[in-house]
Amino acid sequence: MKADNDLYRRLRELSADQLWTVEVPKFNKASQVERGRQVALIRAVGVVFANSQNEKQKTEVKSWVKSLLTDPSEKVRRYAMAAIPKLGGDVEAEKEIITILKTSSVEREKKKAGSALEKIAGEETLKAVGGTNALPISEQKVRANVARKESPAKIRMDAVLDRYDTLRISLRCRRGLEAILAEEVKEAEAKGGKFKLLEIRGCHVVVAAKSPFCLADIYQLRCFDTVGFYIGRVRDPQSPDAVNELAKVIASPLTERLMEHFTEGSWRYRLAFSGSDNQDAVVEKVTQAAFKINPKILNDAREAPWSLDVFLAPGATIAEIRPRVSPDPRLAYRLKAVNAASHPPIAACMARLAGTDDQEMVWDPFCGSGLELIEMAMHAKVKCVVGTDLSDSAIAMMKGNFAAAKLDGVRGAFYTSDFRNVDLIPELKKRNVSLIISNPPLGRRVRVPNLEGLFEDLFRVAGAVLRPGGRLIFVNPGRVEPKDKSLRRVYRQIVDLGGYDCKMEMYLKM
Ligand SMILES: C[S@@+](CC[C@H](N)C(=O)[O-])C[C@H]1O[C@@H](n2cnc3c(N)ncnc32)[C@H](O)[C@@H]1O
Repeated sequence: MKADNDLYRRLRELSADQLWTVEVPKFNKASQVERGRQVALIRAVGVVFANSQNEKQKTEVKSWVKSLLTDPSEKVRRYAMAAIPKLGGDVEAEKEIITILKTSSVEREKKKAGSALEKIAGEETLKAVGGTNALPISEQKVRANVARKESPAKIRMDAVLDRYDTLRISLRCRRGLEAILAEEVKEAEAKGGKFKLLEIRGCHVVVAAKSPFCLADIYQLRCFDTVGFYIGRVRDPQSPDAVNELAKVIASPLTERLMEHFTEGSWRYRLAFSGSDNQDAVVEKVTQAAFKINPKILNDAREAPWSLDVFLAPGATIAEIRPRVSPDPRLAYRLKAVNAASHPPIAACMARLAGTDDQEMVWDPFCGSGLELIEMAMHAKVKCVVGTDLSDSAIAMMKGNFAAAKLDGVRGAFYTSDFRNVDLIPELKKRNVSLIISNPPLGRRVRVPNLEGLFEDLFRVAGAVLRPGGRLIFVNPGRVEPKDKSLRRVYRQIVDLGGYDCKMEMYLKM
């Protein structure tokens, strides 16, 4: 085994051409015993050619690997079966592997054949397993595989749901942003929106629909991260019956109704236990039990249009189904993003926190690819946005995204510059900024030499350029407070920035 692994690591480093023109012919000429020692080559070929762009060569390679499925050596066949899914299965390979599965008397070979088929299964495999437990292979995985290939699913954003009255819709957000999100929902409702606020909970707010709605209606709101529909709960997750209870929830008529309505194509979901580590064994049990109850709803970790999220909390394990909406229609403007780009709903929450003044003159000193400025311009009546960033490429992205956002009547002025150089920037020289909004470098992904000094400077510069009544809103990772007494803090909230806490703060220029 160790020798196989060492050889594999060595072969993996070779180029595709060298493997195909030198190593494979050597393997073909070798004795049966020698081939048994060289099987790592098949594994290396599978990995190296998996992403090959040379389709002609890849087809030849696949034919070679397929020919090994009938090799006299069990070990060679087993390695070939592992390589096939990487190169892409086809009917011929499928038939060969089914034959191995049916005829082999070696347990590990049958196991490998089963797992290869679960990955490449098509109609042939479906015929072989359909309704029988005779083969050691998961019928659900085979069905999901076939469904994925035949009807790749899509979430229907515009399908209007008429039976909405008992639904509890969960808008998820980062911890600390619940109140801002709830405000957004209430404000939208006051303007005739379709949803009403039911309750505010940790990391989510629950809303109900007041009239028929579609997912695109929900995506009019900008401060939530993802949306899920409550489908049920498991009272005691420790009880022996918890697996079956959860399976019933997953397979329920409510899940089916929502999936049927909002999915174009196959109804497939990925099961995820939030906040807990490896749950593979439980996932397997739950999904198999759910499949027995309702075989129309399929568990599938690959490209599933739905996520089935289980939130484990003491005394209240709840299950929601979440449409995996991608791309997020709210971010159509984001053509490019810097590495340290803001989490979009946080930027939207900061914009809401800013409120709306007339004729805003907005500056983001660390604009990156521009989320805060664009969200602000979408939210309020903004006359001009100014962005500064040290990085040329960030400013190029900012410009591209700003143009894509098509913000009619909003002027954009963007400069590659240190934020302290306000006197070199015409829009800032006038000291007439109404709002500074920013997600500054936090020193996490990119080290900042003097982080405290940077925030001291931010307060100093903000005090200088804001007009009276102007606001400074930013994410503060540390304890720095303004020395400038004309800046008064009017808001502070601890927010989860993705695994670490920071303070979202707002200061008013007196
Ligand atoms: C967290 S990122 C901003 C992300 C941005 N909000 C977005 O969504 O793309 C911080 C940015 O600050 C910039 N930066 C760091 N130090 C700076 C300085 N002294 N002056 C101006 N920009 C700076 C970095 O180049 C980086 O693009």
